[in-house]
Amino acid sequence: MNSLEISTDISSHLHYMRLGSGPAMMLLHGFPENGTLWQSIGERLAKDFTVIIPDIPGAGQSSLDAETVSLEEIADSLKGILDKEQISSILLVGHSMGGYITMAFAEKYPSMVAGISLVHSSAGADGEEKKETRRKSISLIRKGGKKPFVQQMVPALFSEGFKQHNHGVIERQIERGLMLKDESMVAFYTAMMNRPDRIANLKGTDMPVQWIIGKEDSVVAPSAVMQQCSLANVNFVSIYPGCAHMSMLEQPDKLYSDLKEFGIFCYKE
Ligand code: MLT
Repeated sequence: MNSLEISTDISSHLHYMRLGSGPAMMLLHGFPENGTLWQSIGERLAKDFTVIIPDIPGAGQSSLDAETVSLEEIADSLKGILDKEQISSILLVGHSMGGYITMAFAEKYPSMVAGISLVHSSAGADGEEKKETRRKSISLIRKGGKKPFVQQMVPALFSEGFKQHNHGVIERQIERGLMLKDESMVAFYTAMMNRPDRIANLKGTDMPVQWIIGKEDSVVAPSAVMQQCSLANVNFVSIYPGCAHMSMLEQPDKLYSDLKEFGIFCYKE
């Protein structure tokens, strides 16, 4: 495993892992996570693919040298990694916020994208209700309430069945969430709130799109995502019963094999 670093406009330390060899995939984490969330699945995929796993600027070991950041700026920093690694064609796998970044990247750099996998994510923007919830969370974090925020938020990412039997996993995720700086949390929530609706970008696109949907996901509603998954010309749709927002922990074997199958498809010629 290689652990590498570059600097970009918004980050003086942009940390990422490079694993394996072959056609390239980038695994993007969501909120409040860092790249280690993807490590175990990344190591399995690395048998067939070059796998790049970044910590996005402001998460994990990557710095964020600005008070605010947009998803487009994060996409630019990921392009910096690909340029450094001399990768010109990439399958982007984005979990939740990582999927919102994936949509921004695909809009800016379409010729580099071999396919996109939206894992518990959506091409849509936040609705008013969601924005209001985010504003309240930002205000709580700014008042020093990161801990209660993370302790309440993280368990809600998992299905009831999983929660009952996996207390240790949830605790570790809470610890991981608490490692994010207050400023990064506020910056990410603001960036997500400000993202545009990119559903129209899917209509008629020849870029293959994979949809991983947790039937019990309460963060990204399956009903809303289902309306998007016939817009592109090629859609791989997988609905996971008994899974909520965290299939890489709740149902990792299934997610690994779906990502591998999609990766083989995207690079079939
Ligand atoms: C995530 O998992 O990245 C976030 O929960 C997404 C969101 O808040 O929309």
